[in-house]
Amino acid sequence: MTSAFPSRPPGFTYQRTRSGHEELFCEKILLTALSRRFGTPLYVYSARAIRESYQAFDSAFRDIPHTICYSVKANSNLHILRELAEKGAGFDIVSAGELERVRQACPQALRKTVFSGVGKTTEELDAALRARILLFNCESGFELAQLSAVARKHKRVAPVALRVNPDVLASTHPYISTGRREHKFGIPIADARRIYAAIARDKYLDPIGISVHIGSQIQSPEPFALALKKVAALVRELRSDGLDLPFVDVGGGLGIDYESTGEVPAIKAIQRYAHAVKSATYNLHSHLLLEPGRSLVGAAGILLTSVLGVKQNGRKKFVIVDAAMNDLLRPALYNAYHRIVPAYVSQDDVITALYDVVGPVCETGDFLGRDRRLPVPATGDLYAVLDAGAYGMSLASNYNSRSRPAEILVDGSKATLIRRRERIQDLLAPEQLT
Ligand code: LLP
Repeated sequence: MTSAFPSRPPGFTYQRTRSGHEELFCEKILLTALSRRFGTPLYVYSARAIRESYQAFDSAFRDIPHTICYSVKANSNLHILRELAEKGAGFDIVSAGELERVRQACPQALRKTVFSGVGKTTEELDAALRARILLFNCESGFELAQLSAVARKHKRVAPVALRVNPDVLASTHPYISTGRREHKFGIPIADARRIYAAIARDKYLDPIGISVHIGSQIQSPEPFALALKKVAALVRELRSDGLDLPFVDVGGGLGIDYESTGEVPAIKAIQRYAHAVKSATYNLHSHLLLEPGRSLVGAAGILLTSVLGVKQNGRKKFVIVDAAMNDLLRPALYNAYHRIVPAYVSQDDVITALYDVVGPVCETGDFLGRDRRLPVPATGDLYAVLDAGAYGMSLASNYNSRSRPAEILVDGSKATLIRRRERIQDLLAPEQLT
C-alpha cells in the first residue's frame, strides 16, 4: 500500500489495520507492538531485508569467484553477524573486539575474515594470526615489520595484502572519504611495487592479495571503476615482476539512498556497482573480496523513538523525542539525512507543519532531523527514523550517561531481543568508588 510517507520494503511497510489507520510494520509485526513490549528508543532490524540485500550482492557477482566479507563496523550485533555467516558471508574487521565478535558469531567464518585498519596493535596482530584469518590488509611499513615479527614468534607465515591508496576523488562526506593522497589510509600506489618486492623477500609474510577502499556512502559507480582500473594495472605489473596475487579486495563503500521514497528498488544500485567492479577487474581472473557494510544492513534497520513533547521557541517548532545523538550519531556528526516517519497515520493526521526532531542531549547539534513535515505530534506518538541499520547502534555511545537502546531482530512474525537495553548499572560498573 502506498502511504503519504516513504517506507523501506521488504523490511518496513505501511499497511492499513483494522483501526482504519495506516500503520508501519516490520515484516509482519507492528512497530507499535514492539514499542509496547520493548520500550523506546529501540533499534528494529528486518532479517528478510538483510538476507535479500546479501542475496542481491551475492548474485550480482555470481559469475566470478568472490567472497563477501561484511564490514562488521556497520552493525556488529552478534545475531546479525550470525545471520550473514549462515548465508555464507566472511567478515571485514578492524579490531580485536570485532575479531572476537566473529569468533563468537561463527568461528568457521574466521577463515573468510580480512583484517583492515590503519593502526593495529601487536596484540591484535597476534590474536588474528592465531585465529588463522584469511588476510591482513596492511597499510604501512611499520605494520608489515610488526606482523612479520609476530609471525616469526609463532613460526607461521602471515597472509598479506597491501592496501593501496589510488588517489581518486569519491564524492561523499569528507569525513568518510579515504582514497586521496592526503588521507591517512593505504600506501601510495606508486610505492606498491617496491613494497611488494620487500614483502616477497620476507619469509614470514606471504603476499597473496591487494586491497583498496576509497570511502563510504559513494552513490556513483565511477570512482570505484577508476580506483579499480589503477589497481588492475598494478596487479598486471606485479605479475610481470613474477608476483601473482590471487585475491583482490575491492573494499566497501557502496552508498544507499537515504532520501528514497521507497519506490526504486535498491537492487539496481548494487547491480550498477557490480558491473563497474567486474568490468574493471574481469580479465585479472582474481578472487574478489567485497567488503560491503551499509549497503547490506542500512535500509534493514530503523530507530524507533517516542515523542516526549512539543515546544515552540519563537517561530521554531520542536518535537522532543526520547532518542538522541548518543543513539544515532550520524545527523550530528555528518549532518546526515535520515527520513523520519510516523509509525501510524490516522485520517485526522492531515494537518502538517515543519518541526525539528531533536533529542534530550544537551547540545544544539543533537538533532535527528530538521524542518520535517510531520502530522501534529502528541506525547507518546511513535516515529521511525529510517535507514538506521548501518552506523546506528555501532556508533552509539553513553553520552549524557544515557543507556544505549535495545535491539530487535524481526523475522516474519517473530521478534527476537538481540541486545537488551542497557541498565544504569551497566554504565557504572567499570567505575568503582573505594
Ligand atoms: N572496508 C573498509 C576498509 C572500511 O573502512 C569500511 C568503512 C568498509 C569496508 C565498509 O564501508 P561501507 O560499505 O559500509 O560504506 N560512520 C560512517 C561510515 C564510516 C565508514 C568507515 N569505513 C557513516 O555513518 O556514514
